[in-house]
Amino acid sequence: MALGVFSIEWVEASRPVFMMFWSTFVGGNILVGAMIIHVFLGMQSLYLRNTLQMSSYDVIQFASALLIMPLLIPHAWGIIGGVALLNYKPTFPLMLQLFWIDTPLEGLRQVLLVVVAWVHACIGLFTWLKLKVWWPRIAPFTYPLAVAIPVLALLGFAEGGNSALALLQAGTVLPIQPADPAVQLDGVTFSENFAFLTTVKWGMLYGYCILVAAVMIARFIRLRAIIGMVEIHYQNDDGTSKSIRTKAGASLLEIAIMNDIPHANLCRGRGRCGTCRVLVENSSGTISQPSDLEQATLTRLNCPSGVRLACQLKPKVGSIHIKPLMEPDVETKNLHDTTTGEEVLAQ
Ligand code: FES
Repeated sequence: MALGVFSIEWVEASRPVFMMFWSTFVGGNILVGAMIIHVFLGMQSLYLRNTLQMSSYDVIQFASALLIMPLLIPHAWGIIGGVALLNYKPTFPLMLQLFWIDTPLEGLRQVLLVVVAWVHACIGLFTWLKLKVWWPRIAPFTYPLAVAIPVLALLGFAEGGNSALALLQAGTVLPIQPADPAVQLDGVTFSENFAFLTTVKWGMLYGYCILVAAVMIARFIRLRAIIGMVEIHYQNDDGTSKSIRTKAGASLLEIAIMNDIPHANLCRGRGRCGTCRVLVENSSGTISQPSDLEQATLTRLNCPSGVRLACQLKPKVGSIHIKPLMEPDVETKNLHDTTTGEEVLAQ
C-alpha cells in the first residue's frame, strides 16, 4: 500500500507479486491456520491469567490482540465472500473505491486494523528481539522502520483515496453493485447474496464476542474455585525480608505484580529471559516440577538446583521462602557479557 504514495497503478501492479504466495492453496491455509492458532493461544492466555493487573506493554498487546479479530473479520470475509458470491475481483482500485466512496466507515475500520495489528506485531517482536545479543546493534535501524512502514502505508491509502475521489468527480467510478440488484448470479440475486454475506459477517462477529465472554466467565469460575492461601517470604540480597499472604493459584511473578513488589521480568512472564529467577530456600508443600519451557531456560542459564522461574512457579497452599536472584530493574544490556557477547549465566 505504501506504493500508493507514488501512484495507485504501482500499487495494483505490485499486487500479483505480494499475493503470489498468499493466494495459493498452501499460502491461504497458512494464513487461516495462523489466524486460528493465534485466536486459540490468545483465549488460552486470557483463561490462564490470574490477574488483569499488567504492565502498560501487556495492556496494549492484550487489548490489540482482542481487537484484531473484530477488525479483520469484515475485511477477510468481505474479500472471500465478495469473490465467491458477488463476482468481485479484489483489486486495489476497487478496494479504495469501497473504502473512500461507497463505505467510508469500512475505510476507517481498515485504518484501525492496520494500526492495531502493527502495534500488536511490533510489541511481540520487540519482546522477543530485545533479549538477543545483537539487538542493541540493529535497534537504531528498526525503530524508524517500525514507524515508517505503517505511516507510508497510510499515506499510500490516503493518496489512493484522492485518486478514487478524482475518478468520482470525473464520473468514471465503477459501479460496485449492478444497476439492477435483482440481477441473477448463479441463480441467486445480488441482493440475496449480499444479505447472506452480511448475515454471516455479523454471525462471526457475535460468535467472537460470545467466545471472549465465555472465556472470561470460565476464567472467573476457575479463579473462584481456587481455595487456600499461600505465604511468601522474600529474602533480599541486602538482608531485608518481606512476607505476604495471598490466595494460592497464581505464579510468583503474578503475585509480586498484584502486591506491587518489584520483580525483574524482561520477557514479561514468557519463561524465556530467566530474569525473574528465584532461589527456593524452602517450602512447606510440594513444588511442581518445571515445565519443558522452564527447564529449557534454567538449563540454558546453567541454573543450580533450587532455582526456579517466578513467572512459571505457582506455589501451592502453605508457605514458601524465596530469594530473587536478579535486580528488579535489570536491563537487557545486563544480560550479556559486554566483551564476549555471551549470555550472563546464573551464579
Ligand atoms: S519473566 Fe522472563 S523468564 Fe520469567
